[in-house]
Amino acid sequence: YGTSSTNKLGHLTIGGVDTVELGKKYGTPLYVYDVALIRERSKGFKQAFERLGVPSQVAYASKAFSSIAMIQLIDEEGLSLDVVSGGELYTAIKAGFDAERIHFHGNNKSRDEILMALDYGIGCFVVDNFYELNLLSQICEEQDKKANILIRVTPGIEAHTHDYILTGQEDSKFGFDLHNGQAETALKQTIQKDRLTVLGLHCHIGSQIFETTGFIKAAEKMIQKLGEWNKLYDFTSQVLNLGGGFGIRYTKDDTPIEPSAYVEDIISEVKTLMAKHSLEMPEIWIEPGRSLVGDAGTTLYTVGSTKIVPDIRTYLAVDGGMSDNIRPALYDARYEAVVANRPEANLHETVSIAGKCCESGDMLIWDLPISETTAGDVLAVFCTGAYGYSMANNYNRITRPAVVFVENGETTLVIKRESFDDLIRHDLPLYTHE
Ligand code: LLP
Repeated sequence: YGTSSTNKLGHLTIGGVDTVELGKKYGTPLYVYDVALIRERSKGFKQAFERLGVPSQVAYASKAFSSIAMIQLIDEEGLSLDVVSGGELYTAIKAGFDAERIHFHGNNKSRDEILMALDYGIGCFVVDNFYELNLLSQICEEQDKKANILIRVTPGIEAHTHDYILTGQEDSKFGFDLHNGQAETALKQTIQKDRLTVLGLHCHIGSQIFETTGFIKAAEKMIQKLGEWNKLYDFTSQVLNLGGGFGIRYTKDDTPIEPSAYVEDIISEVKTLMAKHSLEMPEIWIEPGRSLVGDAGTTLYTVGSTKIVPDIRTYLAVDGGMSDNIRPALYDARYEAVVANRPEANLHETVSIAGKCCESGDMLIWDLPISETTAGDVLAVFCTGAYGYSMANNYNRITRPAVVFVENGETTLVIKRESFDDLIRHDLPLYTHE
């Protein structure tokens, strides 16, 4: 994975830094991000578009992992940013990110969130439904402001992934249906609203997708409509946003392709389809989240108790779990791991890695082949960079871990570990009458 390797002490290193030392210094659980790998992935997407001579915006879907330092790294790499809430937007602005390169998503943006985004002057709203379309246009009137929008459509594509992370199918809470006329009505209504400019269409078919066929099918459906609307309404789409969802390798069973290969494959089809409908090639926007940060993140845990269920299973418990990685419990997600203080030792047994939450479903990895492991060893679980910290929670009043960035042998603490006082900061005693 990325820059991970083994040093003279036989310890796992990431970005040239000894992970066992990291665990000692910052405590565990600890998220460790390989910055060089995030930069490599960012460049992979961006340069693929440049090589093809296609104007683009690669927007990092910050829901995968958002923090001030993370946004600043994305800014350094010259990407745009996708935010889905007032909180993600606030983080981006506080990180000094240029508002014009921020795209605002969400199926239920509040009035306050819309006001905030207009106030910062964000680049575009990805409008999801009629309620939002009217609300946005009304707020623009009141505030004497204008807004650029993308119309989010559901193209009726079923990508092959977990049901909870599927979004492009017809029965979805997101977007305007492309086939029953909803998207067309949204376009017609917006053309009449002089405060809103439609830059184009957006779709996101799902997440952790390995083949490009789903993206191409979605593009095909959108481009066909764009062809019709060009004739009917003289509408030209300046932007076609194909969303995110590019899959990564969590375990050896996963077979993703390189960022550049996703782009090349999809874009060559889009070019052909645009030409077929006699349309000018629009700017292509994409929104990768997982594929920019997923395999750059590793979580370090300390091994604690062991429970042997004779002839059935050995449970090895670590000092974190579904509070820092809810994905196995929620999606049946699979991970690979090694003992960080002995990554190259011979495999000795098969164990199941349990979390410390009071919940039987709090298992991180089932049936992991591992070297001989005892309490105090450091377990490194790979590929936890996307939707790990961002979905972390305080279940059982467990504090959220710290996050460090490592690069060229240097370590930067980018999110501090929560303290017990952080946990009770908003609590008030009984009988605090207002
Ligand atoms: N664009 C839109 C509109 C999205 O809804 C998403 C993800 C993305 C982009 C980025 O998708 P990515 O490239 O990261 O796959 N919590 C789940 C994933 C939920 C994804 C939600 N939307 C997980 O842990 O797998």
